[in-house]
Amino acid sequence: MIQLRNIHKNFGSLSVLKGIDLDIAKGEIVSIVGPSGAGKTTLLQIMGTLDSADSGTVSIGGTDVSRLSSKALARFRGQHIGFVFQFHQLLPEFTALENVMIPALIAGTSRSEARKRAEELLAFMGLSERASHKPAQLSGGEKQRVAVARALVNKPDVVLADEPSGSLDSANKAELHALFFRLREELGQTFVIVTHDEQLAATTDRTIHLRDGIIENVNGVADNDTGTATAGTDTGTATADTDNGTTIETDPVI
Ligand SMILES: Nc1ncnc2c1ncn2[C@@H]1O[C@H](COP(=O)(O)OP(=O)(O)OP(=O)(O)O)[C@@H](O)[C@H]1O
Ligand SMILES: [Mg+2]
Repeated sequence: MIQLRNIHKNFGSLSVLKGIDLDIAKGEIVSIVGPSGAGKTTLLQIMGTLDSADSGTVSIGGTDVSRLSSKALARFRGQHIGFVFQFHQLLPEFTALENVMIPALIAGTSRSEARKRAEELLAFMGLSERASHKPAQLSGGEKQRVAVARALVNKPDVVLADEPSGSLDSANKAELHALFFRLREELGQTFVIVTHDEQLAATTDRTIHLRDGIIENVNGVADNDTGTATAGTDTGTATADTDNGTTIETDPVI
């Protein structure tokens, strides 16, 4: 499903990723752990096409993303990859339902279909009663569950999560982690999760230990194929009309 080959990334003279090879299979829940500054977020952003490698290839569902134009890449990202961040990054002026609908509208889904999917996902998360709440009217755990629903609305191949439970208390943390496994059980959803939470890492199928820009050890089989290519960056934006009649311009991430 996801193949990374010989990924290198430097920021100036700082060499952050020094030859990463990684394969993620459909339906896997993989955690990435390692000390602060190890390159976990950088790796996830490259995997999610939000950042480009200096060398190496990223292939998602058989598509070599370095071959896509920036416009095609933005579309590809919207359709194939869902993101969840430490801080939910919901749009404050929109309701939970609208926040979940927006990526679907951007992807060209009809308003009625987007609403239907968003309502189903919020129901799955136990949030039907909160659909009309704005983020400020939701608890931290609820906001993160809305963010997960938003990540799922376009039925992505993979959800990439960067410390998704990092801002939650232990009860909400446990609930969010259980939700990931329920989504895998019921929808076959694939997850790659950067986490500092040892309990979560211990329950995932595989834990990737990143240290000083290399994979230190994996509870599984590493792949050693190599290849080189350059990937283009993209900073495109998209617009969507929302239920309250406002046209918004969104971050390409959602
Ligand atoms: N845009 C950037 N420009 C320059 N340096 C960067 C940039 N982004 C990250 N870095 C550096 O690259 C290294 C890896 O950063 P990264 O965010 O991937 O670490 P991390 O493993 O996610 O750490 P944490 O656990 O603290 O989130 C760090 O030393 C960081 O300072
Ligand atoms: Mg990080």
